[in-house]
Amino acid sequence: MNLDVERIRQDFPILKRQVHNHPLVYLDNAATSQKPLAVLNSMNEFYTTINSNIHRGVHYLSDLATESYENARKTTKNFINARSDREIIFTSGTTASINLVAYSFGERYINEDDEIILSVMEHHSNIIPWQLMAERKKAVIRVIPVNDNGELVLEELEKLISKKTKIIAVTHISNTLGTVNPVSEIIKKAHSQGIPVLLDGAQAVQHGTVDVRELDCDFYVFSGHKIYGPTGIGVLYGKEELLSQLPPYQGGGDMIDNVTFAGSTFNVLPFKFEAGTTNFAGAVGMAAALDYFSNTGIDSIVSYENDLLKYVYEKLSRIDGLTLFGKSASRIPVFSFILDHIHPYDTGMVLDKLGIAVRTGTHCNQPLMDRFGLPGTVRASFCFYNTFAEADALIDGIMKVKQMFG
Ligand code: ALA
Repeated sequence: MNLDVERIRQDFPILKRQVHNHPLVYLDNAATSQKPLAVLNSMNEFYTTINSNIHRGVHYLSDLATESYENARKTTKNFINARSDREIIFTSGTTASINLVAYSFGERYINEDDEIILSVMEHHSNIIPWQLMAERKKAVIRVIPVNDNGELVLEELEKLISKKTKIIAVTHISNTLGTVNPVSEIIKKAHSQGIPVLLDGAQAVQHGTVDVRELDCDFYVFSGHKIYGPTGIGVLYGKEELLSQLPPYQGGGDMIDNVTFAGSTFNVLPFKFEAGTTNFAGAVGMAAALDYFSNTGIDSIVSYENDLLKYVYEKLSRIDGLTLFGKSASRIPVFSFILDHIHPYDTGMVLDKLGIAVRTGTHCNQPLMDRFGLPGTVRASFCFYNTFAEADALIDGIMKVKQMFG
């Protein structure tokens, strides 16, 4: 089924606005996505009719709020095809989810000289939590390299895996290069040696179907705000048998079973990992976003984004003096590029004056920038509400930048 993008755009009020007297062309979706009315209305309705703290009160509204929150967990579980609600932990986002795993998995399973495998293309949030844990435990981080096309060098992974490897944590899709990594292959290799795998899905869930059972990943993490939901809410999926072995990460209300000064015991999954008042309204909003995304038709979204990808890729490739980073055949419409002799920041500033929102800089990917010897890039990240006319506006904008600085 073809996507009716003009109709879809009516669902996103912000897309109608002007920026510097130009229609907004929002191409910073990898940083955060815009929100449809279905999400805004669901949160408005929650706050205006139900709002009350969850899992605590005996009163009517508290019951309704708890029911909405637990329904959001069911929606999330179904969205990624997890086996059980107990495998869905609500966090504040991808960063919090990875910190949780790095801490709790590290405490339980990682000792001196043990190894963790990451890749050069990881976002800082899939590097720093592991570094902090490695420092604490005197463990070692090994890194999968990236080739000139912006793809993981899997032959090197073979060499990195050893008896000391305790976990592999890699991104499903690169936030800078747009590369879709061969995660099933990585998981198979890892599991053949009994090593669990965490996938950072922050840039993946909004660009296709994610089925954690089919992938057979051990942990999968993502953020609500990148899949058209609110900020401050995210997900940690973990296989129940693994999560149940891990110690709590943060302590506080709701994660306990019994508290005494002689010692305390902890709640069952998933509550063991949800200390304090969670972002329950955010969870409701994120569930509305997941429903909106599914109801729009994920196959149609993927097909449309693929057409957009081919169109933009070809146009960018034809521009003299433009170098594109990330040339994998397996990719999403996220484009990182530089223009000869023009600083990415200058390119971004001129595009902004034309109403075109892109991101410039290192994109929380300094090791990847070092790999390509770059101070930063311009990144245009598209999604399913972007149009071919907006792609043309980007290309025209780049030509103007070249004229101005040429
Ligand atoms: N991780 C987000 C990005 O890539 C913020 O822009």
